[in-house]
Amino acid sequence: MSQGCAGRSVVLLGLIILTLVLFTSPVCAWRPWPQNSSNPLYGDSKKFEGSSEFVHLKYHMGPVLTADITVHTIWYGSWQRSQKKIIREFINSISAVNSRRPSVAGWWKTVQMYTDQTGKNISRTVRLGSEKNDRFYSHGKTLTRLDIQSVIKSAVTAKSKPLPINPQSGIYLVFTSEDVYVQDFCRQVCGFHYFTFPSIVGYTLPGGRMISVIGHEVAELATNPLVNAWYAGQDPSFPVEIADLCEGIYGTGGGGSYTGQLMDGHDGATFNMNGIRRRFLVQWVWNHLLNYCSGPNALDQ
Ligand SMILES: *[C@@H]1O[C@H](CO)[C@@H](O)[C@H](O)[C@H]1NC(C)=O
Ligand SMILES: *[C@@H]1O[C@H](CO)[C@@H](O)[C@H](O)[C@H]1NC(C)=O
Repeated sequence: MSQGCAGRSVVLLGLIILTLVLFTSPVCAWRPWPQNSSNPLYGDSKKFEGSSEFVHLKYHMGPVLTADITVHTIWYGSWQRSQKKIIREFINSISAVNSRRPSVAGWWKTVQMYTDQTGKNISRTVRLGSEKNDRFYSHGKTLTRLDIQSVIKSAVTAKSKPLPINPQSGIYLVFTSEDVYVQDFCRQVCGFHYFTFPSIVGYTLPGGRMISVIGHEVAELATNPLVNAWYAGQDPSFPVEIADLCEGIYGTGGGGSYTGQLMDGHDGATFNMNGIRRRFLVQWVWNHLLNYCSGPNALDQ
């Protein structure tokens, strides 16, 4: 989900589903297929996760992020080192070359299939840029969206070690700690992105687990940075983007309230892809060539 600076809508990531995902952890490795699906859209075939003849994802001729993407992070409020580390490792995993399959890099391959007018693909390379800590809540513990833009502005104009401005492919992620309330924003887990120049992504993340929200937003930002590239629906102020189409789908068979087939690590944590030094649970994204949601852990790959 993305929006203009004065945007009204936010992505509400289904916390219920995420919670379900995070806390269901039987011991065995693969979950059984759903034996029957009552939703005709998802059908019987494992190939059609989330697919629908009603989804018309369109390219609206705007730019996408084809140059190497640099992610600058702003940690607003109090963040533990361990939480930051997980998030950094996820971002670094996107372009990692030798993660075990299914991998985060494999997940990004679906995003790379999107192109701009000239046929140039989204960049394969996503790297961590600079970081800035805003430990002392420079704009208080209650933030409006405008405040979030000011937080970023402060970070790029700081006297000491400002974050670089790279309008081509620099994106900023603002992570607000749990004790920060973002006004007009969903209460629990959500992300949104909107643009100024350069593009900005804002997040509220309680705890370090919500990697899927980051994946969701980075994928959409890459394919629809100015809300005039890849989205479905008529209304650009409420675009349905490549990750919105697959919310709640993490594996083969996913759809409705079923997450799809996942894997359980020996520590009991559910995951669907491997990254650098750890495993992650990240939702799938829409594959516009196949016309369904896909991910690296799909059983038919
Ligand atoms: C699945 O199908 C079986 C019989 O074919 C039926 O008894 C069962 O209720 C169905 N389950 C769901 C969740 O629809
Ligand atoms: C680039 O995009 C095209 C069209 O979607 C796709 O067929 C191709 O596999 C993509 N290339 C890479 C390297 O992802």
